[in-house]
Amino acid sequence: MSMIKGIKGVKDLLPEETPRWRLIEETARRWAGRYGFHEIRIPIFEVTTLFARSIGTSTDIVEKEMYTFQDRDGTSVTLRPEGTAGTVRAYIEHNRAAIPVPQKYFYFGPMFRHERPQAGRLRQFHQFGVESLGMADPHADVEVIALLWRILSDLDLPGLTLEINNLGYTADRDSYRPQLVSYLKQHESALCANCRHRIDTNPLRVLDCKVPECRAITETAPRLSDSLSKAARSYFSQVLSGLDIVKIPYSLNHRLVRGLDYYNLTTFEVTATNLGAQNAVGAGGRYDGLVETLGGPSTPAVGFALGLERMSMLLPKSAVRKAPDYVTVYVAGFGGHGAVAGLTALEELRLAGIQAISDFRPVTLKSHLRQADRFKCRFTLIIGDDEVVKGSAVLRDMETKVQHDIDLSTASLQIHSLLIGS
Ligand code: HAM
Repeated sequence: MSMIKGIKGVKDLLPEETPRWRLIEETARRWAGRYGFHEIRIPIFEVTTLFARSIGTSTDIVEKEMYTFQDRDGTSVTLRPEGTAGTVRAYIEHNRAAIPVPQKYFYFGPMFRHERPQAGRLRQFHQFGVESLGMADPHADVEVIALLWRILSDLDLPGLTLEINNLGYTADRDSYRPQLVSYLKQHESALCANCRHRIDTNPLRVLDCKVPECRAITETAPRLSDSLSKAARSYFSQVLSGLDIVKIPYSLNHRLVRGLDYYNLTTFEVTATNLGAQNAVGAGGRYDGLVETLGGPSTPAVGFALGLERMSMLLPKSAVRKAPDYVTVYVAGFGGHGAVAGLTALEELRLAGIQAISDFRPVTLKSHLRQADRFKCRFTLIIGDDEVVKGSAVLRDMETKVQHDIDLSTASLQIHSLLIGS
């Protein structure tokens, strides 16, 4: 029969890799707790309009990357491409705005985007994200950016830069957009096909296109920063001075626009020098209009998401403490009665809090001992039919090869006290 392979851009995480992921997740969780964020678990699929309305119909995600399908009742549903839309939907649906303290959530989980797979870019990838809802204050922006930075610094990820930009208010961008469009139209023929399309649909996205020809053109384009209102400038300067106060290093990037339409004012991205083309480790920003757009009460909000695959790629090997490379006890039960007594002993050891394993295939003592060595077991508890008759078992130290008889009925107790004494 032919082998069935996993889907392109969808990765397995094998046991060798999961300790790295656990370290990343535990670090993120610990810092999120310190900053007063609480875990939320939102569904993996939602109605399609949720994402179209929040991320924006003319974004790459909604135009070409969503996994959308018709449910059996005809409803169009989509595998979540990100976590902000679902979190905001849950916030509105459960009337969390009525709670008189800011709602600060974090989440982990798989996200789905039909992108061209390459190193660091997958179709099923994983994010850790946070959303802070309810505070229209630059200090709330500083708080989430600081949290982002603390997680990455704690993990010692190398070569990171935090880039930040001010997208202003909707009215600011509305007054800037025609200037940009008329400039881009003058240079239309030199832009990449994607950006030519974006002139009419999402012109600001042309600013952060990575194609060198497009970059050369946008270098001299009118700048959004020149069209920003006084209020937007003042807000942003307070965010920057807050970052200075808490000593988070940043660099200004006037091109940073981001691929989701819900942002306004502060937007930021952390990039890594040694990730290749897909260099964004995490990103976020303020999205004050989104709760209202999705039918909730006007609620200011700010958040970010980190890509766990990219964090794992950057995590130094030395960061993960090696798990002890031995297993405590191997139980070698063989022969009709020995195998049954072996199963009992295995369970008793585990119930006593001792790691105990076996391989149920070998039929001879010799082959059991070979497996115990392969598993790097510290002890082997040998139980053949003869031992069962005597009510005993043989405990073998796998390193010294010293063996002694122990009482079968109290084997787990004896091994327990041996381990405590060692
Ligand atoms: P995003 O910039 O689309 O933002 O994604 C955040 C991070 O997810 C990226 O910086 C990257 O590390 C990772 N990521 C995105 N796409 C892929 C992919 N195809 N393969 C691997 N990693 C990927 C958001 O998703 C927003 N919801 C962030 C946010 C939360 N803004 C406010 N609150």
